Amino acid sequence: MPGFSFAAMSELNERLTDLHARFERALEVASDERSLEAARAQYLGRSGDLAAIRRSIGRLPSDERPTAGKEINDAVAAMEELLERRRVKVASHAVEEALSRRVDVTFPAPEARLGSTHPIRHVIEDACTYFERRGFAVVLGPEVEPDYYNFDALNIPPEHPAREGFDSFWIDETLLLRPHTSPMQIRTMQNHRPPIAIIAPGKCYRRDAVDARHHFQFHQLEGLLVAEGVHFGHLKGMLAGLCRVLLGAHQSVRFRPSFFPFTEPSAEVDTTCPKCGGSATACSMCGGSGWIELGGAGMVHANVLREVGYDPQRLSGWAFGFGAERIALARYDVDDIRRFIDSDPDFLEQLA
Ligand code: PHE
Repeated sequence: MPGFSFAAMSELNERLTDLHARFERALEVASDERSLEAARAQYLGRSGDLAAIRRSIGRLPSDERPTAGKEINDAVAAMEELLERRRVKVASHAVEEALSRRVDVTFPAPEARLGSTHPIRHVIEDACTYFERRGFAVVLGPEVEPDYYNFDALNIPPEHPAREGFDSFWIDETLLLRPHTSPMQIRTMQNHRPPIAIIAPGKCYRRDAVDARHHFQFHQLEGLLVAEGVHFGHLKGMLAGLCRVLLGAHQSVRFRPSFFPFTEPSAEVDTTCPKCGGSATACSMCGGSGWIELGGAGMVHANVLREVGYDPQRLSGWAFGFGAERIALARYDVDDIRRFIDSDPDFLEQLA
């Protein structure tokens, strides 16, 4: 059989020579460690071309196999040497290139950037401090709520049109992202005996189209005071004090009659425009109205008190819900609510 094995061996040689040549070309075009590694895997790797040739040894007569094995091993050694030489070359080229770029080692490094309190958080913290000093407790609650806390318990039955005012993100038939912090009124009153004095800040969500004044995610500050003899005058005093702490010593508040199912009477609360003080006809902040709308408020509805098992004959209370972003827009004279969400460090630094 020498004829057959001669043919097989020369075919093996041919394949090895061809592989070597192709490998050499692949290395020449490889210009970095990654492409070198890719070439190695393709030719010398476990499922590479050379491994395939090695597997075909089995087809040779058994006395030819040792010679063939040696040929293959020699070929591998030669290819590995090629690879190593090319590796050294590529690496030294990378070093040269790095050195050829001029580096000024005396150039000062950029200063490390420290974070700062987000303006919305600042507003919330200052408001909470104001109320805590007056005996209120800060409470936090879930952002995903059953409709019971969001609506039913707040005197908004299923078919009530007021539900449409809260264009909500529903998770299923009964669960939603809270569109306001008022559910915290119910949660607190159901878990505590009166008197109640709480401030509940937190994120809210509504399906509002996003523009300079609206966002689908925002923050509210909910306030609730329930005790014997609480009246609207307390509310006005507390809110005027809050506005003075947050926006300036000369702020005043006004109430405009409004409607909320969970308060009666209800009001929209405005504070003096801190930019123009109510005097400029073309003020960029208030549009010349002289007032900034902060949110809603009112005396807690008797139905709400009854729902949580409180006696409306004996107890009364007020509640309010303010938009933290609205306060922050006025406090920092910011033109667009989206800046609070974008969190561009250059913007946040200015307000730090
Ligand atoms: N929850 C109301 C809203 O988001 C605001 C509000 C709170 C009104 C408390 C009255 C009392 O529009």
